[in-house]
Amino acid sequence: MTDGMKRRTILKTVAAIPVAGTLFLLASPFLRYLRPTLKPLDILGKSDQPLAEEPVPKFKDSDFPDAWTCIPFMFYQKYIEYNPEEKEVRTIPGFIVKLPNNDIVAYSRICPHLGCIFNFVKDPNECAKGYNFKPNGPVFACPCHLSVYDIAQGGKVVSGPAPRPPRKFEIKRDGDNIEILSLEAGSIA
Ligand code: FES
Repeated sequence: MTDGMKRRTILKTVAAIPVAGTLFLLASPFLRYLRPTLKPLDILGKSDQPLAEEPVPKFKDSDFPDAWTCIPFMFYQKYIEYNPEEKEVRTIPGFIVKLPNNDIVAYSRICPHLGCIFNFVKDPNECAKGYNFKPNGPVFACPCHLSVYDIAQGGKVVSGPAPRPPRKFEIKRDGDNIEILSLEAGSIA
């Protein structure tokens, strides 16, 4: 390469830097719209997913001596907000339940129909009296419009107007310890 060619290559490279920078700045809001991140220009960073806020609900295996032991809890979900506190915390009530096959599952208690807080109803006869439907086993049942969710079938709607099962929490099991990690993606209800 002659000296002249080398100079031209260097000049072209230097001239391209502001163009590339401008393109990056123009593309950044669009990329951020597609994948919201914690910082405005951090387009490759962690996205703004809601996170668990302390205190995270924790349980022990021994808290669940029998099948259908059901424990209510509160989960705090933190959203990144561009306000002075840099976050907004929402409180989500949940139930954690031991199934007959020893699995432990946790659900948000917010009814997917119109957002009431539903109950755990262990006795099918009680459900028949209070919620107009006799299930085969313990259920979640909503007092507002009588939606009933079959816990043994993954929260399947077995009666009432609810459009889908309640949202599940992700759980981490580590030996005897059980921790609620996060709520299934989507809206709170
Ligand atoms: S809000 Fe629960 S059934 Fe309507």
